[in-house]
Amino acid sequence: MLSQKDNETLCRVGPEAPMGDLLRRFWIPFLHANELPGPDSNPIRVSLLNERLVAFRNTDGKVGLISNLCAHRNADLFFGRNEENGLRCTYHGWKYDIEGRCLDMPSEDDDSVFKDKIRIASYPVEEAAGILWTYMGPPELQPPALPKFEWMRVPEGYRHVSWNVQDNNYAQAIEGGIDSAHVNYLHSTVDSHRPQDPDAPKRAPARGGEAGALGALIGRDKHPKLFVKNTDYGLLIGARRHTGEDKDYWRLNNFLMPFWTTPPGRSMHAFVPLDDFHVARWSITWQVDAPYSAAEKASMRNGQGIHSELQKDTVSPTLPYMPPGHVPTHNRWNDYQINRDMQREETFTGIKDFGAQDYSIQEGMGIISDRSTEHLGVTDRGIIAMRRMLIDSARDLLEGIEPPSAHNPESYWVHGGQTLLPIDADWESAEEVEKAVIGAV
Ligand code: FES
Ligand SMILES: [Fe+2]
Repeated sequence: MLSQKDNETLCRVGPEAPMGDLLRRFWIPFLHANELPGPDSNPIRVSLLNERLVAFRNTDGKVGLISNLCAHRNADLFFGRNEENGLRCTYHGWKYDIEGRCLDMPSEDDDSVFKDKIRIASYPVEEAAGILWTYMGPPELQPPALPKFEWMRVPEGYRHVSWNVQDNNYAQAIEGGIDSAHVNYLHSTVDSHRPQDPDAPKRAPARGGEAGALGALIGRDKHPKLFVKNTDYGLLIGARRHTGEDKDYWRLNNFLMPFWTTPPGRSMHAFVPLDDFHVARWSITWQVDAPYSAAEKASMRNGQGIHSELQKDTVSPTLPYMPPGHVPTHNRWNDYQINRDMQREETFTGIKDFGAQDYSIQEGMGIISDRSTEHLGVTDRGIIAMRRMLIDSARDLLEGIEPPSAHNPESYWVHGGQTLLPIDADWESAEEVEKAVIGAV
């Protein structure tokens, strides 16, 4: 459980809140680069950390991220004309460049210098790995580089990136991302909870080769023991399961400051707060040895694995200030299309989409979960450590202590993993653990 004061610190992300300040020390993904497909393409609404912004690509192809409110009388610049390296307000024609400077003020006299005094908020934008990133903190503290994720170093065809909006605070989404214990339940099948008949014919081996066979060991132990190790980027969380044989199965998740999580294997989430009540769930999967086939790409677009099937033209009914195309097909307004027959016979949830299984829980907790009513158990150690790390880092920042991970992009070269270790092995120093989570390219 968390006191209400700590919960406030954890969950509030506006510019005036300690956590909002902390999050603004890091680079943040906010759009696919192709959501602004070319020079002078349509401006896009962006909600980020409780701020409303407009993104546009200028005539030179550079991207601006500026306040949505015109400095004259607060017209919404989303409706602006994107023309000749600037966005022109349609109310009285004031025009802004990608740095928020007022370039033209046709409503004032020709000899007026008023425009030179006008500047609206703007944030720097980087384009990398098909994603637009921004940094919203003090300019003098801008990290020297984007985090060096393995997936950013592979060729474009080797990765798949999607994002969907969720109706809940970002912190409870991160909790889902590092909660190793829920896999035995939320994402499981009915069969895995049936008592095993020792005389039954052996089932076909698990799909997915060696990794699939290892992952199948999750079912051997439904009350994993959780361990947490502090790292340069955040936390490495180890879930140990006994297998009934001479080795333990270890599932390794990461929490990377301030909102990244990794399930085992080459996949990752970022849970980016759009405001206190909405989070963008970024999902990234990648391979290092070959590009994805067209069929693999298509199935990810249809919601395979950690990706969600998305509704093409819809915006969230509760967050209209965002681009269309990021509301999942299985969503809270249709009960995630839960199929109760399937729940009886096949899967634990009856919800088809893997991601929707997660956000059915995260949204159902309440928009901001009241953590003072929780009863945390032995499997919640990673979650407790993650909350502590975020809250303590936000409070440290109030004392002038900067988060070191923001300036250590090299340390982000990790992913989730899984491995076998001898029973009672020292997991923190085991070579197998390091090998399982360190990037290859
Ligand atoms: S409100 Fe934008 S120019 Fe007047
Ligand atoms: Fe999950």
